[in-house]
Amino acid sequence: MYCVRKVSDDVFYVGGDDRRLALFENIHPIPSGVSYNSYVLLDESTVLVDTADWAIGRQFISNVEHALAGRGLDYVVVNHVEPDHAAMLEEVLLRWPSAKVIATAKAFTFLEQFDINVAQENRIPVKEGDTQSFGKHEFTFVTANMVHWPEVMVSFDTSDGTLYSADAFGTFGALGGKLFADEFDFDHDLLDDARNYYCNIVGKYGAQTQKLLEKASGLDINMICPLHGPVWRKDMDVFIDKYDKWSTYTPEDPDDAVIFYASMYGGTESAAQFVSQRLNENGTDARMYDVSSTPVTTLVGESFRAGKIIIASVTYNFEIFPKMQDFLSDIKMLGLKNRTVGIMYNGTWAPRCGALLRDFFTKDMKDINIVGEDPYVKSAATASDEEALTALADEIAKA
Ligand code: FEO
Repeated sequence: MYCVRKVSDDVFYVGGDDRRLALFENIHPIPSGVSYNSYVLLDESTVLVDTADWAIGRQFISNVEHALAGRGLDYVVVNHVEPDHAAMLEEVLLRWPSAKVIATAKAFTFLEQFDINVAQENRIPVKEGDTQSFGKHEFTFVTANMVHWPEVMVSFDTSDGTLYSADAFGTFGALGGKLFADEFDFDHDLLDDARNYYCNIVGKYGAQTQKLLEKASGLDINMICPLHGPVWRKDMDVFIDKYDKWSTYTPEDPDDAVIFYASMYGGTESAAQFVSQRLNENGTDARMYDVSSTPVTTLVGESFRAGKIIIASVTYNFEIFPKMQDFLSDIKMLGLKNRTVGIMYNGTWAPRCGALLRDFFTKDMKDINIVGEDPYVKSAATASDEEALTALADEIAKA
């Protein structure tokens, strides 16, 4: 059954939801699913803007056929080649073999690498500022290198102000029949998924995202149609402001604290809980996450949200606990910075991880303000630790 929604007079949403995929990119848990967005524009020519993942192939083809209503397909715009968006291109071209494909030169190279065959005579390579008219609608193509791959471009319809933004402004989560962001409660329904999507997928490329935001600020945008999550037609500033913060590694909640803890037998957890209680009692919103049972995707999202981070780790084979090490590797890879950090550690017989954590935040990370005296809990936290743990909480609170 086709599941198509009208985006505007001439544009139809032909994407679909994937609720069966457990791990996006085979790494990020998506309990609320994900949508692969695609759009059909009906003008003097017909245009498909991006395709979809194989996972929703049947739904997608049925949607495209319905939206075209018996017309042929003249153009496919490929803004991004990652297979969650371009995998279905091959099937589309088998069904509509005369469709011309509009993409950057690098995108055509990547399509070849993914073994997706586009006949040379059907290729329309475009570069920054090129335009293509489809009738009353005209697209201007704007490159968006590394948001999230190097071949990416976004397409701006100058006739109606629609920005087809590729991965930018995407959000995890199935749409479930809704389409527009104003059909959701942003803070309740979308914000965590949007943050987790940006920070984990595009987070490393803050400078490139800033470049795209700068280009977008020069466009008269009425609507944003991303490749995942809802379409934005109202209150875009709210989302653009979040993107500005995330891509400059500016905390969304600068006064909030997040405690990431690794605990084998509960001693470190108990100490972390003591610190969290002290912070909350004194008015700092502090949350705790067990790195062993919380997906790194969530930990990364929280580290981008809050301005203050406490790392509480047990030592493991003379090293930082492996699950904590995984999380730290991720925030290093993503280039997280501009954070206040407190360190607390544990060890029964060789408590090396305190020094290793300090080394990590001093040498491997940039623009980190470490506060406190790195309290050391010997095996289990006791009353003798109260003073040092309280001092750390107070240092974090006042930082
Ligand atoms: Fe949703 Fe970078 O692909």
